[in-house]
Amino acid sequence: MSGKYATERLSDDPAGIARAADLLRAGGLVALPTETVYGLAARADDDPAVARIYRAKGRPGFNPLIVHVASLASAEALAEFPDRARELAAAHWPGPLTLVLPRRRDATLAAAVTAGLPTVALRCPAHPAMKAVLEQVGGPLAAPSANRSGFVSPTTADHVLATLDGRIDAVLDAGPCSAGIESTILAVRPDGRVELLRPGPIASEKDGADTSAIEAPGQLATHYAPGKPVRLAATGPAADEFMIGFGGIPGDCTLSPSGDLAVAAQRLYACLHHGARSGKPRIAVAPVPEEGLGLAINDRLRRAACPVEP
Ligand code: TXA
Ligand code: MG
Repeated sequence: MSGKYATERLSDDPAGIARAADLLRAGGLVALPTETVYGLAARADDDPAVARIYRAKGRPGFNPLIVHVASLASAEALAEFPDRARELAAAHWPGPLTLVLPRRRDATLAAAVTAGLPTVALRCPAHPAMKAVLEQVGGPLAAPSANRSGFVSPTTADHVLATLDGRIDAVLDAGPCSAGIESTILAVRPDGRVELLRPGPIASEKDGADTSAIEAPGQLATHYAPGKPVRLAATGPAADEFMIGFGGIPGDCTLSPSGDLAVAAQRLYACLHHGARSGKPRIAVAPVPEEGLGLAINDRLRRAACPVEP
């Protein structure tokens, strides 16, 4: 894809990390690996840089971004931490957990990051390359998943380039992401109540969280769409279907032949990208059990199968 920028592919070494940090400090857009999916990063305190994220992704302005920080101390400068939030951060950071918390009045964040909400979504990721870039930049980075809005999320640098080549300054290629689906999002209200806004790799946090109330704004739209119809709970493919298998059900591509849900989560988006690129006009997906990580996998699959943009 051609575009305004010659997108650089940086390697996961000190020179690549230094270049990524330089581009970001100067207000650029760099796709960075995390343990969940690749994120499209920009300085969270820089209005024009944050505006460029929305433009590059084609993301609607009402959908706020996750702010990535190097430490709990940096997070505390941006949001109020009820005790329960501090406990969750202590248990899961650095890692695949995003906390939605009351935004501090004095938080130095571009207004567009929170899309006018009184809350801010914060995550301290564990990926070594992401951590190194955060430390070198020396401030928080806003980063949604590094895909054009509505498309399948990226778990490799090639997935990033499939929709953002020419639209961003660089991608730091650190190979495939280990968890493979986006972070679990929990909102902690000022009274300590916890709500699950998006299921993710930290499946146990569903217990005790209110799952009924609201969702992350971005979760309402059709999402993760491979650009062709997706049929779920398929026991086998029709002639014109690209089959994504699981467990005992084989496919053109298989989430996990042994039925391992962690492997299935890790491979989910790669399989959807394969299906999107295949010559077949439709995709079918074998059933995945609705338990543990399967809850997050099925959440993404249902959205991938949702036919129309609301
Ligand atoms: O694993 C992840 O979370 C990845 C990596 C890059 O960190 N990021 C990611 O970002 O998935 P994105 O933008 O694709 O999804 C963020 C979700 C959206 O559904 C957005 O609406 C929600 O988080 N969100 C952000 N700020 C929020 C807030 N203040 N209140 C409620 N939801 C929020
Ligand atoms: Mg996304």
